[in-house]
Amino acid sequence: MKNEIKIFSPATVANVACGFDVLGFCLDNIGDDMVIRKTDKKGIHITKIEGFDLPFEAELNVAGVSALAMYEAAQPDCGFEIEIYKNIKPGSGIGSSAASAVGSVFGMNELLGRPYNKTELTQFAIKGEALASKCEHADNLAPAIFGGFTLVKSVSPLEILEIPTPEDLYATIIHPQIEIKTSEARAILPKEVALENAITQWANFGSLIHSLHTSDYDLIQKSLHDVIVEPHRSKLIPHYKEVKEAAIQHGALGAGISGSGPSIFTLSKGLENAKNVKEAINKVYSETGITFETHVTKINTEGIKILN
Ligand code: HSE
Repeated sequence: MKNEIKIFSPATVANVACGFDVLGFCLDNIGDDMVIRKTDKKGIHITKIEGFDLPFEAELNVAGVSALAMYEAAQPDCGFEIEIYKNIKPGSGIGSSAASAVGSVFGMNELLGRPYNKTELTQFAIKGEALASKCEHADNLAPAIFGGFTLVKSVSPLEILEIPTPEDLYATIIHPQIEIKTSEARAILPKEVALENAITQWANFGSLIHSLHTSDYDLIQKSLHDVIVEPHRSKLIPHYKEVKEAAIQHGALGAGISGSGPSIFTLSKGLENAKNVKEAINKVYSETGITFETHVTKINTEGIKILN
């Protein structure tokens, strides 16, 4: 059995407009690399972090906390070193903490001969995610581990459903280089929802799930609306409305806040449309003076993977 493994842990989009805290999908070419190594020295040791300034103490690091949760359950007769090569900026809204949280447990599981299934890995990773967002949610973790679209049916007990990905679906993501802390973006949300809005939201959510099962792109377009969270959080994202309008005008099926923002996701049918959307939203943001990155990616149906 191997003693060291290198992995790619992907970025993800949570919420997907009308699926706050339950729906997410996995991105293809954006993510972190991590190396997990078995050691004689017991415990979890984070030995390298590149890219961003994050804590080395396992108890304070998202990857460390999820690793410790699994380590305590597995009681292995070895320890683990973790190296994190972080490409996803923390606070970007594309699952930075989730990528770290799943990376450590996925790698350890491989090195231990896969004692745990994907749902169990997600369960350990929830502990790490909770360190960052102050709340146990799995809508970024599940797509990072399973790939494609996932629906978190329940957190306790944890139940994850895999939703099919239409073949021709592409995401265009814009990431304005400002930071929004998930915990703060959660704190501004009202605790209660008007019944009228709830009805609209669950109708859209149900039809979005149906549209993914049936590859019905028109129905995806009609379903990608969020009347509950977007009105509050969009105020935190400069030029949100202009980006959304430009994306839809240039062929996107819809757009929304990616996770807790500031990234904005759009979905398009076909690569050509996704590229046109990229150009349109680049144009909006290039006039703002705010630095930003944009990405076009196919939906990643594989999820986290081994690199060596
Ligand atoms: N569902 C979570 C939120 C995802 O929107 O707060 C953020 O990681």
